[in-house]
Amino acid sequence: MKPSSRKTGRRAQKLLRAGAAVAAALAVAGAGAGQPTAAETQAEIERYRAMLAEDNPAELYAARGEELWNTPRGPKQAALAGCDLGLGPGVVAGAYAQTPRWFADAGRVMDIEARLAWCMETLQGFSAADIAARPFGSEDHKSDMEALVAYVVTASRGYPIAPSQKLPQERAAYALGKSLFALRAGPYDFSCQTCHSQDGKRIRLQELPNLTRREDVRRAYTGWPAYRVSQGEFRTMQWRINDCFRQQRFPQPKYLSETVNALITYLAVEATGATYNGPAMKR
Ligand code: HEC
Repeated sequence: MKPSSRKTGRRAQKLLRAGAAVAAALAVAGAGAGQPTAAETQAEIERYRAMLAEDNPAELYAARGEELWNTPRGPKQAALAGCDLGLGPGVVAGAYAQTPRWFADAGRVMDIEARLAWCMETLQGFSAADIAARPFGSEDHKSDMEALVAYVVTASRGYPIAPSQKLPQERAAYALGKSLFALRAGPYDFSCQTCHSQDGKRIRLQELPNLTRREDVRRAYTGWPAYRVSQGEFRTMQWRINDCFRQQRFPQPKYLSETVNALITYLAVEATGATYNGPAMKR
């Protein structure tokens, strides 16, 4: 066993004990009135954060992701060591902070998930359909993509967000994302802005960032991808945007679609210069 995995093992124990304590506290809080109130949930999450101090269950996902990255997998039995995330084959440190960006080999502007999927397809021989089949994990299915993303984004902690806008294709992705952010449609005629353009707004007591303010975008963007306490899973930015489309009553976008990619580009560019501080722990 490598020293790092022994350390990960001890951490895992500590994280799981703390998680169980929070779940138990929430069950007690909910016992009287049915569901725990949002304030009670928030208080427990704060307690959980304090208990863990520097530790975040995202680390467990990142450790699994690192192993996946280094293990020969797929029909071609290749590791991802040759995967170019934008800074050269195999370079992981700081790469996430410079996405989304144009990748000439793929002929697309890609966010980190689209790029990882591209590497899994081209280097390892996985099919796009397989990668897109169940990208988001649940209790009975651990997602390799979520673990890989956790590993890669963790290696950008402390780096400034710096997606390139040099190329016309990159600027076009930003412009598309910006217009999609304001596009009203669907059964309720909602846009992203409907929920995300006011200060101090809440839905069912959940805080809603005002994503038309650069300060709020920076705070939100530098914490995602994140570990979601309420779901007990690590979640990616594709998941985050997907879930907001669901709240917006839009049809579920295809995994890694141009639409979601453009929205991520828009948010990333708005957050340019902020220091990546994730993966955070979220409600
Ligand atoms: C119906 C309301 C609603 C709409 C419309 C909506 N969102 Fe959200 N969004 C939320 C809620 C609620 C949260 C917080 C969820 C939570 O804490 O679990 C959130 C969270 C987010 C976050 C993470 C913020 C953070 O600090 O963690 C981002 C980024 C985001 N939304 C982007 C979008 C984008 C892009 C769109 C349009 C495609 C959109 N949202 C549309 C309700 C909405």
